[in-house]
This record gives sequence, structure tokens and C-alpha cells, in this order.
Amino acid sequence: MAGDRLLIGAAVSSQEFDQPKFASLVADQFGCLTPCNEMKPDFVQRVKGKFTFDRADRIVQFAASHHLQVIGHTLCWHSQTPKWMYEDEGGKPLTREAALANLKTHIYAVMHHFKGKVKGWDVVNEAVNDGPEQILRDTPARRAIGDDFVLKAFQFAHEADPTAELYYNDYNIDLDYKRDRALKLIQQIRDAGLRIDGVGIQGHYMLEKPSLDEIERGLKAFSALGLQVMITELDVDPLPRGKSMIADINATEGAGLNPYKEGLPEEVQTQLADRYGSLFRLFLRYPKISRVTMWGVHDGDSWLNDFPVRGRTNYPMLFDRGLKAKPAFNAVINALAQAKP
Ligand code: XIL
Repeated sequence: MAGDRLLIGAAVSSQEFDQPKFASLVADQFGCLTPCNEMKPDFVQRVKGKFTFDRADRIVQFAASHHLQVIGHTLCWHSQTPKWMYEDEGGKPLTREAALANLKTHIYAVMHHFKGKVKGWDVVNEAVNDGPEQILRDTPARRAIGDDFVLKAFQFAHEADPTAELYYNDYNIDLDYKRDRALKLIQQIRDAGLRIDGVGIQGHYMLEKPSLDEIERGLKAFSALGLQVMITELDVDPLPRGKSMIADINATEGAGLNPYKEGLPEEVQTQLADRYGSLFRLFLRYPKISRVTMWGVHDGDSWLNDFPVRGRTNYPMLFDRGLKAKPAFNAVINALAQAKP
């Protein structure tokens, strides 16, 4: 699928490679892989000092043997991270020194392990606050370390592997309500003289929202920084949502509609394809966009079957549950074929 101009990736889990059909589809269609979960702090260092890399290694080995690149996701995040990293047993923040030591040990160990095998890292994920009151979200890392925890993470990451690209990754930072805070945070990283190579816009979109105009305002603003801009977790959710568009994995909704259990109606299938086509045509107009990664490969492995409502039957990806290309896939192929080199 990879166009000349864009690296196109997919998020995967190691056990999916048990299926030969999945493995060959991924090797044929994608240029880079991001582990969905298996490089997150909870997976690589659930117990302090005990690192487990076997599952992530399996993805890295598959990538190497098929000449695919690997993106590391993620080193510092408020979700899927063991409590001991930033809190004591009573849930109180660790001292700044103790939390910094944990962050540093984690980043050094993980980046050393994957040195030369991972092209770049989502060093910090989702640190920007959704509300306007402050730039940073209130998280265990911030409570223990202070507002410079983001800077410290970028500093440690560059020390650990000076050859790796370093990214800031977040959801909805392309959107009006959140963009300025993200731009300010990136400015702080650069003002501190730290390396940052790119900004990852997650890109968890719906059929009609956000508007292409709003996304484009984001692409413009981030392109103007001169950094790489990446769409790192693209999917388009065709199911109804009760609450908001927030992709915080803790913001699940209790119950909700599951309208397409028996299959996606034709007209929604077409809408989905049109949306993917317009998104890729938009992305391709921005030369700073260096990569688009799909957050999953097929409808069956998308996190959106369980978010924001558990146990729904969702259809957000380019391939169906049988790994067959959907009209959305063809729309993306057409957009790539029409793009100017
Ligand atoms: C998701 C995974 O895909 C799920 O398997 C897991 O249960 C929760 O996390 N933003 C991110 C990703 O940065 O790490 C999240 O991945 C999706 C939202």
C-alpha cells in the first residue's frame, strides 16, 4: 500500500502472527509496524526491574525479516503503566528523585534493548490536558516529578539512544480545542534544547467528525514547526458515540448501541470509504506528513470493538474480519495513486 511519499504502517500484536494469512497481508501491505500494546510500560516492566521483551521482540523480528520498520510505543504514559513507577503503595506520589530514577531506568533499558531496531519512539504519550486550565494533564508522573517530566523523558530518551527519532504523540491535538496547548508543550521541549523529531497526531476519527477543515488547521499548525508530522493511530469509527470524541482509554462508556452486529450497511460502507479517501487526499497535500499508521489491521483486531463501549461489532479498518480489502482500502489506494510525487 505504501505510496512513494508516505510510509504506511499498522499497529499489531505479536500473537496475530500465528496466522499465516495475517502475517503475509501485513508483510505485503505495510511499511512499518507499531506494537499495539507490547512495548508499553505495563508489558515490558510490570514488576520493577524485571523486563520482559519476548512479545515485542517477536514483532521486531518479523519486521526485520520482511524489511519493515518499527515504531516504539510508548515510554511515558498515564495508562497501561505500573503504579510503582510514580506512586507508593498507598497511592501517594513518589519523591521526584525516585520517580525520575524509575523513568530513567525504564527508558534506558527499553531503548538499549531495541537500539538499532526501532526507528523512532513515542517518548511521551497523551500528556496534554483536555481542558483549557493547564497545558499538562494531571497524571501520576506529573504529580511525582513536576511539570518537567516531559522534558526529562525526552532528555533520557536521547541519552539512551542518540540515533533514535523521538516523537510527542497525542489524540485530538490537531483539533481547535487542544491544539494550542500541544504547540506550547512542543515549544517547551525545543526551548529546552532537547531533540524532538516529530509530532504524532493519533487520528482516531469518526465518520463525520471532526471536519476536514478542522483537521487541516491542525496539519498546517504542526507542519509550520518544521518537524515531521505523523498520523500515528488512524481509524474511522462508524458506530454512534454517546459522549465525546476523547480517545483517553479510561473514558469508556457504560452501555450503548451496537447497531451493525450482522454487518455494515452498504451506505455506511461507502461513507467509510469516502471518509478514508478524503483523509488520505488531505494528508498527501502536507509534505511534512511522513507516515500514516493504521491502529490495527482489520475490523476484528481494532480496539474500537471495545472502546468506548465494550463488546461491540465495529468496522473501522481497511480490511474486514476475513482480511479481505474493503471499499475503504480501495479509496486509500486511489488517493495514493493520484498523489503528486
Ligand atoms: C489501545 C490498544 O489498542 C488496546 O489493545 C488497549 O486495550 C488499550 O490501548 N491511544 C493510544 C494507544 O495511544 O496506545 C491505545 O491503544 C489507543 C488510544
